[in-house]
Amino acid sequence: MRAVDLIVKKRKGKALQKEEMEYFINNYVQGIIPDYQMAALCMAIYFQGMQKKEVANLTMAMVKSGEKADLSSLPGIKVDKHSTGGVADTTTLIVGPLVAAAGVPVGKMSGRGLGHTGGTIDKLESIPGLQTALSREDFMKQVQKINLAIVGQSGNLVPADKKIYALRDVTGTVPSIPLIASSIMSKKIAAGADKIVLDVKLGSGAFMKSQEEAFELARTMVEIGEEVGRETAAFITNMDQPLGTAIGNALEVEEAILTLQGKSQGPLRELSLYLGAAMLVLAKRVQEIEEGKILLEYLLDSGAALEKFAVMIQAQGGNSEVVKNLSLLPQASGQEEVKISQEGFVASVNAEALGLAAMALGAGRENKDSSIDLAVGIKVHVRKGERVCKGQPLLTLFYNEQKRLEEALKITSQALQFSSTPLEAEPLIYGLVTKKGEQDLKLSF
Ligand code: URA
Ligand code: CA
Repeated sequence: MRAVDLIVKKRKGKALQKEEMEYFINNYVQGIIPDYQMAALCMAIYFQGMQKKEVANLTMAMVKSGEKADLSSLPGIKVDKHSTGGVADTTTLIVGPLVAAAGVPVGKMSGRGLGHTGGTIDKLESIPGLQTALSREDFMKQVQKINLAIVGQSGNLVPADKKIYALRDVTGTVPSIPLIASSIMSKKIAAGADKIVLDVKLGSGAFMKSQEEAFELARTMVEIGEEVGRETAAFITNMDQPLGTAIGNALEVEEAILTLQGKSQGPLRELSLYLGAAMLVLAKRVQEIEEGKILLEYLLDSGAALEKFAVMIQAQGGNSEVVKNLSLLPQASGQEEVKISQEGFVASVNAEALGLAAMALGAGRENKDSSIDLAVGIKVHVRKGERVCKGQPLLTLFYNEQKRLEEALKITSQALQFSSTPLEAEPLIYGLVTKKGEQDLKLSF
């Protein structure tokens, strides 16, 4: 077999076979096939796309490139959850405790933030004392004992993805549906999931900018799951504006706790209930999403999920008093309120711009070695479509450095738009793709 023949085959639009895919990925990871040939293959895939079976083979070849977490000694069906990246999206901190409180084990590996989107591990580290680097043994013991652990990725999972992603980033081949789908699914499978719930974000703050693309990405990942025996369900959800009201690490933990206390309503709570309910369906804990949602609403409002979060914080060495006393979280030294300057309706709340403004305050990383300020960030007081009056609070910026505040204010001044006429409401969830096909969830709201 020669790499160049496989590139030509793909360039002509033919499907690569399992052995061919494995040959290419293995040799690339070992440094035998050079970057330029992998780049050419990615470009051929970008233009020609991939068949169902082929993208599943690519995914499994990537999984095989490294270690795999083995969760098989944990009881029951292990369901993981993944979001394609959003702003003010702290669903994991809500869904994890919720699903665990319903009796389904959640052993989750999460990532750090990069760019304008946040990461669960950074957020968790704003809880005083909490450790996210657990040994494998402690991780498994904790899940066995309390049904819940959220830790940083350990081990060498999917080295092929690290190498290919870096290459795609500089060769214009990131926005390819088969390449995105295999990248995401390979990491979930290597992390040990039996079944997977995905949240595919759609809108200005997301990778996917059109409904068509978002549904195609969702279908492709569900089909990969089918092909490789890991049942997958994918929601397509709105990321035209931030999901919750808080952007920034400690601020998002605070919002997660308020939600677990039953004090915070709105889209973050709603989507968390849907994602969690889908996890319960895949874990065979309930039959239907609606049934799961009712159970999870009860666990939220009864305080059981909050208690589960407290138990997890304690197990990971953190101060669990934080679930009752939010002032134990890191606090920024300054707050700046921005007020609404005109009467009307909120026409747009640019999630990406607000994410970038929070980064400017210090909440995110410019590159993977930058340090971050856990206390800073932004609270957004309005949602799209809302009627507003002059002088009403629009944003609060939490800052530690005056220079960074000024930078952030420059960005936020462009982030919201207003209109004099009302707008049509947008759905939170555009749909759900499962092995049975597509459901339009808009109707169920
Ligand atoms: N997220 C990933 O993990 N991989 C991609 O290719 C795109 C988004
Ligand atoms: Ca809907």
